Amino acid sequence: MPTNWTPQSWRNKPISQVPVYPDQAKLEAVEAQLRKFPPLVFAGEARELRHQLSEVAAGRAFLLQGGDCAESFAEHGADHIRDFFRVFLQMAVVLTHGASKPVVKVGRIAGQFAKPRSSDTETIDGLTLPSYRGDIINDICFTPEARIPDPERLLLAYRQSAATLNLLRAFATGGYADLTRVHEWTMGFMKDSSAYPRFEEVAKKIDDAIDFMRALGLDSENTPSLRETRFYTSHEALLLGYEEALTRRDSITGEFYATSGHMLWIGDRTRQPEAAHVEYFSGIRNPIGVKCGPSLSTDDLLKLLDRLNPGNEAGRITLIGRFGSDKIAEHLPRLVEAVKASGHTVVWCSDPMHGNTVKASNGYKTRPFERVLSEVKSFFEVHRALGTHAGGIHIEMTGDDVTECTGGAVAAITETGLEDRYHTYCDPRLNASQALELAFLVAEQLREERPLRKTRLAAM
Ligand code: TRP
Ligand code: MN
Repeated sequence: MPTNWTPQSWRNKPISQVPVYPDQAKLEAVEAQLRKFPPLVFAGEARELRHQLSEVAAGRAFLLQGGDCAESFAEHGADHIRDFFRVFLQMAVVLTHGASKPVVKVGRIAGQFAKPRSSDTETIDGLTLPSYRGDIINDICFTPEARIPDPERLLLAYRQSAATLNLLRAFATGGYADLTRVHEWTMGFMKDSSAYPRFEEVAKKIDDAIDFMRALGLDSENTPSLRETRFYTSHEALLLGYEEALTRRDSITGEFYATSGHMLWIGDRTRQPEAAHVEYFSGIRNPIGVKCGPSLSTDDLLKLLDRLNPGNEAGRITLIGRFGSDKIAEHLPRLVEAVKASGHTVVWCSDPMHGNTVKASNGYKTRPFERVLSEVKSFFEVHRALGTHAGGIHIEMTGDDVTECTGGAVAAITETGLEDRYHTYCDPRLNASQALELAFLVAEQLREERPLRKTRLAAM
């Protein structure tokens, strides 16, 4: 921890992307209440994730991070969480199988509520109101009252996060994630998707492997690793008052941890090295992500790494590139070269969503699926060329059958088709079929990197 750092030292620094609460007294009362609430995650879990991410940095594991762009109070329900979790598990299985290495599973969930906005206001038909900043801050409804930041929402977000996390923990360890149930994760509507037969193929191979292991005496009753999985939570730590209130000192190490989620990331709009968000992140010991867009200079990146990870601890930093399919080849190599030369150890992760947002001709904000795939391919190519590890992907996805991103193999979504089920509160997400299709593409890339077995080498 840097000297002079406290959970509130960010308050003395310049800050961007903050809501203005008209009722300061109420905000302070709510923050005081949050300070007394139980932590959502434990320091020990965050440490364990840091260790798993150090395995990713070394190329021995792969990171899968994904979930909604923004969680909403309205969509909070068991079905929504379950549908997300099962696509996530399907992706994880495809990747584990393709890569033959462990997949570190991190959801953008149970705390992903606050949104940075490019403009403080929004104008519709001549009426200008404050922008919607996520359900933890104000309401999406376009009325003056709805857009007023309301401190009460911090409590609602905390409680929703706790309930979501509770169900996810139950799914992860209570039998739902059991590898012997891999066929049961398929959803009805996915049967039309081109990814479906490919998934069934992988599932059959897993069945065979499980049958074989059973013959050896290993089954899901006596082998927890077949039955259970570790699932971690993450979100953009934008609303620092909320984060501060949930920052706790770990009784074992005496160090500070954010307990609102296992991993937090800094957005591309709030990563100025001398500003409030970086100050807050410099003192917490969780694994953290830094979003890297085209405007990030090489100098600033190195400054950030020195500030956020002075001890160069593996697993502490994940750099999440979000350049755009047309810009990644220009920007990722310079950042990789600079980090390599500096000696810093990081996890390289690709967010192929945020640099590929376009406006469809009918006004919908969308992301062409081909561009998403193309950015991921380039991500692997760059790392292959430079001898570094393509460590993971970070995506906006949902388990629902939405129509928010155009494209996809079978039943491709057209611009007109966006109108059918466009539900997102913020950015367009991959639907279940698109997410699975992406997993297969990544699995192919990872498969190419698999070292040949000794026996196979000997036969050549
Ligand atoms: N425990 C292992 C893991 O989490 C294997 C596993 C169990 C798994 N259930 C899973 C892998 C579901 C992916 C999806 O990796
Ligand atoms: Mn987003």
